[in-house]
Amino acid sequence: MREGYKILQGNTPTLTDIKADFDEEIQTGEFIRRLLTLTTKERLQDVFPSLLNDVNNLISTWGPQGTVDPFTELYKLVFQVTVRMATCSELADDPEAVSRLWGLYQTVEKGTTPAAILFPRFPSSGRKARDKATADLFVMLLSYVELRRNAKVPSSDAIDVLLSGGAPTNEIIECFIIGVIFAGVVNTGMNVCWVLLYLRRDLTWKTRATAEVQQLMAKHATSLSKSDPLHKRLASIPVSAWEAGMPVADALIRETLRLTSGGGVALQRNMDNAVTIGGKSIARGDFLAYLLEDVHFDASIYSDPYTFDPGRYEAGREEDKRAPFAYLGWGIGRHPCAGMKVAKLEMKVVLALFLAGFDYDIVDGAGWPLTAVPEIDRNDIHLARPLQPCTIKFKRTEE
Ligand code: HEM
Repeated sequence: MREGYKILQGNTPTLTDIKADFDEEIQTGEFIRRLLTLTTKERLQDVFPSLLNDVNNLISTWGPQGTVDPFTELYKLVFQVTVRMATCSELADDPEAVSRLWGLYQTVEKGTTPAAILFPRFPSSGRKARDKATADLFVMLLSYVELRRNAKVPSSDAIDVLLSGGAPTNEIIECFIIGVIFAGVVNTGMNVCWVLLYLRRDLTWKTRATAEVQQLMAKHATSLSKSDPLHKRLASIPVSAWEAGMPVADALIRETLRLTSGGGVALQRNMDNAVTIGGKSIARGDFLAYLLEDVHFDASIYSDPYTFDPGRYEAGREEDKRAPFAYLGWGIGRHPCAGMKVAKLEMKVVLALFLAGFDYDIVDGAGWPLTAVPEIDRNDIHLARPLQPCTIKFKRTEE
């Protein structure tokens, strides 16, 4: 799988890109197993208050009102939270270090142009900048792994958990930190932006989602009063309630993923004998790519497929069950998304903070409200930003 994504998307850097020498070969299966142990309910519960603190700290830098570009600011927010989940407190608590990491990450991300994917060995200036950023990224992360390895008192942070589980250094850096950042930040960041945009123009669902958040707080945040900070009240809701007690938010996320997946592909490598699919022979070792919009925008499955309509998954309609494998937002089969629980939790937290603590609107570059949600730029293969410039105008109503 890692090979496939390297060919098709070219964005996740690896140690071989910078010829770093490590003895151990990374076992993808082992990495997924370790990632799943890091995303158990208990561990998520452990890290949850820090996660909400991070989100609140960043949101506080926006001031009581103003405008923000969600496709920059919410990405930064998801980045901070991902660093919290995938590394250690020494890094996640240091805004300067996170900002440096963010800069390196962006250089790598921006170096992933269509030309770079088609001509991966062409030494363009973008390619050189990307390679330098990749090397700096590894050196920086290695210093934190070494710091934690030599720490006298172990912690429950991700790097410590991985070290104590015997994960090799290259696996910790390449798979967990870099892999998780690249797999998680773009997908989660992009979808959290779109869910807020879609919701702002659908008042019925916005009202339902706001009521759900308020009910959750009324039920679980009983030890705190309304005068306590919103993020603390949200942090007192157990992770299990975020996971199982938010059917409205689940439907919103499900529908947003269907719409944003337009340019996405699922990849599979044929590791068995040659097979024939649709009259084409697929040899052993060949990659198969399936464009998700083929099923996600199929009007015989999803009525009015380009419209945001979270009610299509509700009992009585269940359009995603009209055909086998009709919903592929989190992948399917033996290798579905290993970060789904984390991604959903992060998206729900941002959503809840916005719904309970902000009045917001979507406006154009000149500050005028947009009457409709802008279209997704389907040529923006990684970030799926809107075709038309748009920002969020906000006023904080609760802090
Ligand atoms: C909204 C956010 C996300 C979406 C929509 C998403 C979507 C997906 C999809 C569709 C796949 C399957 C790809 C395929 O079959 O070709 C996948 C795989 C994967 N995702 Fe995610 N993902 C998200 C967030 C995350 C996060 C936060 C992490 C890490 C913490 C993560 C880690 C992974 C990994 C490791 C795999 C490979 C699983 C395997 O090969 O067994 N993802 N994701």
